[in-house]
Amino acid sequence: MRIAMIGSGYVGLVSGACFSEFGHDVVCVDKDAGRIERLKRNEMPIYEPGLDALVAKNAAAGRLSFTTDLAAAVDGADAVFIAVGTPSRRGDGHADLTYVFAAAEEIARALTGYTVVVTKSTVPVGTGRKVAEVIRQTRPDADFDVASNPEFLREGSAIGDFMLPDRVVIGTEGERAKKILSDVYRPLYLIERPIVITAVETAELIKYAANSFLAMKVTFINEVANLCEQVGANVHDVARSIGLDKRIGPKFLHPGPGYGGSCFPKDTLAFVQTAREAGAPQHLIEAVIEVNEARKTEMADRVIAAFDGDVAGKTIAVLGLAFKQNTDDMRDSPSLTVVPALQQAGARIRAYDPAAMTEARKLLTDIDYATGAYEALRGADGAVMLTEWNEFRALDPARMRQLLTGPVFVDLRNVYKPADMTEAGFRYHSIGRPV
Ligand code: NAD
Ligand code: UGA
Repeated sequence: MRIAMIGSGYVGLVSGACFSEFGHDVVCVDKDAGRIERLKRNEMPIYEPGLDALVAKNAAAGRLSFTTDLAAAVDGADAVFIAVGTPSRRGDGHADLTYVFAAAEEIARALTGYTVVVTKSTVPVGTGRKVAEVIRQTRPDADFDVASNPEFLREGSAIGDFMLPDRVVIGTEGERAKKILSDVYRPLYLIERPIVITAVETAELIKYAANSFLAMKVTFINEVANLCEQVGANVHDVARSIGLDKRIGPKFLHPGPGYGGSCFPKDTLAFVQTAREAGAPQHLIEAVIEVNEARKTEMADRVIAAFDGDVAGKTIAVLGLAFKQNTDDMRDSPSLTVVPALQQAGARIRAYDPAAMTEARKLLTDIDYATGAYEALRGADGAVMLTEWNEFRALDPARMRQLLTGPVFVDLRNVYKPADMTEAGFRYHSIGRPV
């Protein structure tokens, strides 16, 4: 199969590299020339474990290449995937489809022979049909089908998620399109991963329903954690025990500072907008959005309360800035709410993140960036854990306590054992656990 991947960001690059690993000929396209130049030199534009080796291997084998020339990549391709961004539109929270339609128009002009045009970006119900209209208007003679193939990978574990997905969803009505996409995913049929073939609209909706449900699950456990704090219960025992019920499942029940990232926040917003317009409001998810937004601010209040209500003039060490571990992605990270709120209250921030500091510099101001976790803690008045990087798990509580001038440690990811931290002399605050 010859595949063109339009957009070489988190999804396009990982999907393109994985398709080439399946044995297909893949050309990844991006309009960002700098990004393509770096990729040609095997420099990854994003932090994603294992991606550089996968790209290097398949580029060397001649199955994976990079270009800014969309027309050349589309010419002769069996399938063209659109994997461009669909950020929240300012004002109404709907998905901004500007990049998707611009890509569709460019693709239309370049089509030669029968091609499946596949939306991999997360797009609202009805977008596939509109993409088809754009292509038809631009090139009435084009021979094509549209399909929706939403992507379910997570940043930080993207390659594993792509190569061993819980399911693949393919939405299309065209028989040729079904055949081509089944061939594209053939290696996954061979290892018996479920492949759901459905209508375009259904595939589009599945993606939003999945992300909204997961966001709801996280928000549920966060609220249960609040209750645990009030009644002296342990949220991890609650999460584990409810999760052992197969109808509930153990995943996405880890409490934290509120979900963030480039997807849950924007996708829940777009989902409720679509639902309102369709006259089927999603009250649950509307509540989830509200609760999660409020939670991020509450987290800052919680830190201030841990410092007895006054952080003015204090230096707070912040461990982790990315919205989760194993990524450099700062989009909608809880740190973007918590850090400015602490600064507003007069605190000075010294922060360390293993991968996200370059991105953080673009979004957060007046931060003293440290070169390591212990370095961030040295001489600070107290500390806040915002992202659960593995390297933070191994930090020695006694050494951390020695480096800090004060005893406050607010762990918003429950990385440490309360007993270890208390023993080391900390006033340790975590989420939903008795100290
Ligand atoms: P991203 O911003 O990292 O990458 C998008 C890329 O597309 C950018 O590099 C941009 O330059 C490029 N681009 C835009 N228009 C183009 C055009 N006309 N031609 C060529 N390149 C173009 O975005 P992302 O995080 O990869 O997300 C892409 C889509 O996938 C979104 O809809 C998102 O919701 C969805 N998604 C993301 C994830 C994730 O983990 N990030 C997971 C599943 C689904
Ligand atoms: C999420 C979904 O998990 C993917 O399936 C989906 O493809 C992707 O969105 C997308 O559509 O782009 P991602 O945003 O990379 O993936 O990260 P997650 O691991 O889902 O985490 C999202 C947020 O929830 C993070 O802020 C994380 O810290 C938080 N979270 C997650 C919790 O607080 N607790 C949990 O138990 C799980």
